[in-house]
Amino acid sequence: MRSEDSTNSEKTLEKNKLQYDALYSSTSGAKMIKVLQRFEAFLDDTTQTDTSWKGFYLNDFRKQLKGKRVLEMGCGDCLNAAIMTMLGAEVVANDISDEPGRIIAELNASGVLPKPITYVFGDFLQYDTKEEASFDFVVGKAFLHHLTLDLERQFLEKTARLLKPGGQARFFEPAINSLWLDKLRFMIPVSGRPSSLQRKAFKAWEEADPHPDRPNSSEHYQQVGLQYFSKVDIYCIGAIQKFHRLLPSGSFDRKFRRLAFRLERYLPKYINDTFARSQLIVLSKAS
Ligand SMILES: C[S@@+](CC[C@H](N)C(=O)[O-])C[C@H]1O[C@@H](n2cnc3c(N)ncnc32)[C@H](O)[C@@H]1O
Repeated sequence: MRSEDSTNSEKTLEKNKLQYDALYSSTSGAKMIKVLQRFEAFLDDTTQTDTSWKGFYLNDFRKQLKGKRVLEMGCGDCLNAAIMTMLGAEVVANDISDEPGRIIAELNASGVLPKPITYVFGDFLQYDTKEEASFDFVVGKAFLHHLTLDLERQFLEKTARLLKPGGQARFFEPAINSLWLDKLRFMIPVSGRPSSLQRKAFKAWEEADPHPDRPNSSEHYQQVGLQYFSKVDIYCIGAIQKFHRLLPSGSFDRKFRRLAFRLERYLPKYINDTFARSQLIVLSKAS
């Protein structure tokens, strides 16, 4: 008989596959090439305005990639896998969706990448044991929070084995460090998600949502990380930047985002961590 944990994990995987096959079915590798041809300018801009890119590339990560072997889990539309390749890394990308395989084939055929990306489809937990201790970095951008806690433990254990001694895992994830703020957030409807006060509609949305119900606090990532890694560093971001959502999109919104990231540096740590929208989790394996 299957355990409740594994049944929940299977349901979560199915929902993720369904949602992301549909989302990426219209993504075209060919269209991405224009971005890749000016990837330095793209990164300069996006790492100052967008939380996920700023968080993922925090602490000059772009300068650490040259000549490194990197595994990206949950590669999605593959733009980040392609950018890391442009920055000189040898990239292996993994996802449970079929679409990234098609996008990567287009990118590899385009001639724009300095070396091809290798795509590994499906269950990364079965990934070849010959690859153990062979990666300098294992990374994920908005990935871990899609796993049930049971799967997360298995993934982190596998990640630690795949990394070389001294290697690092780097995950950019949402930060939910205040439950009351999170409750308040769900009361405000956004495009595609009703307010939690609209009980029936909210329940239907929750059932289709590919995110499992699980903690995403910095404390959680700290605790689970320390089970498999010798050091965990967490950087919370977006405490002020997140208010850009209240502005109409346009040049003022972009100015606000840049300024917000600069101002966040001066917030006291407790305030920053409580109000942050996102976090970068860096897990270091002992040398
Ligand atoms: C929010 S998307 C992020 C995509 C991309 N990293 C980005 O930043 O745009 C989450 C991705 O994780 C993938 N995913 C979810 N569960 C997974 C699993 N167990 N193994 C591999 N990929 C998974 C989904 O298919 C999806 O592409």
